[in-house]
Amino acid sequence: MTEDVYLTGITTTGTPHIGNYVGAIRPGIAASKDPGKKNYYFLADYHALAKNRDPDEISRSTLEIAAAWLALGLDTENAIFYRQSDLPEIPEFMWILTSMTAKGLMNRAHSYKAMVAANVEGSNKDPDKGVTMALYSYPILMAADILMFRATKVPVGRDQKQHVEMARDIAQRFNHHFGDVLVLPEPAIDEHTAVLSGLDGRKMSKSYNNTIPLFADERQLKKLIMKIKTNSLEPGEPKSTEGSTLYDIYKAFATPTEAADIEKRYAEGIAWGEMKQLLFAYVNDHIKPAREEYERLIADPAIVEAELQKGADRAREVAAPYLDQIRDAVGIRKLG
Ligand code: TRP
Repeated sequence: MTEDVYLTGITTTGTPHIGNYVGAIRPGIAASKDPGKKNYYFLADYHALAKNRDPDEISRSTLEIAAAWLALGLDTENAIFYRQSDLPEIPEFMWILTSMTAKGLMNRAHSYKAMVAANVEGSNKDPDKGVTMALYSYPILMAADILMFRATKVPVGRDQKQHVEMARDIAQRFNHHFGDVLVLPEPAIDEHTAVLSGLDGRKMSKSYNNTIPLFADERQLKKLIMKIKTNSLEPGEPKSTEGSTLYDIYKAFATPTEAADIEKRYAEGIAWGEMKQLLFAYVNDHIKPAREEYERLIADPAIVEAELQKGADRAREVAAPYLDQIRDAVGIRKLG
């Protein structure tokens, strides 16, 4: 068996929040330190263009996400960390893959279908209103990201599973036509990573506007934690940890012993106000050192840029010769 190659992308929209941290950043950083694992992490800024048209927001988000991963200790010597748009090989490869992608396959993509469904429900005359070709072809760009590095395992959230399966379908069709050139990837979905709920109790997500930014300053962090929805049980009344956002967030950061202590406090009827104070102090302590490093990087983006350039150089060393091979396979060749 050949060695697994792990690859994952982060779309550069929004600012990293504690749900991203617990669900993707923390496990990603742990994996980056494993010398036995080949890992690629990249900032999917071309994907961001399909979702956001504000140039300043895109570039700010790229800086914030890169700074967050670095501040939290991503091992960029072991893992390869780069920005998608620094690799001209990716869009070039995407076009080659586009020629091997059935339009019908793209018609079935959930994100595209959801947008059409919303248009139809909203009794829009045009079902494709607001659908750009970037949104429609999004899975092909993602396939290029994945197949460019012969990734075998793609750690993603559930919502991206279909996209990875599409990359696999596209690769299969390519290989059927041009020979065994591409490596078939599969999604790696960790059933155990926590999905945090947000301020209003729904899943924490930038689309619900209920997030707690990972590096909110102390004042803002406190304010947001105070806003978290609870039920109306009085101090002294026993409380259930089930469905308690405060507890879930605490647990996501705490050791099992610490979590067990809090369970006891719930049973004893801790007041919501006290639990909020306690959660704030705990999360704040946990985040503080990384927050300082994050602020240093945000103030000096050249450090982040240099890291990304280093990563791009390493990534292109792999991508460029492989793309030559792919171009040759499809007949894009020098003459004579
Ligand atoms: N589409 C992914 C998301 O929004 C990000 C992404 C882009 C990605 N390219 C990728 C993830 C390749 C895994 C592999 O979450």
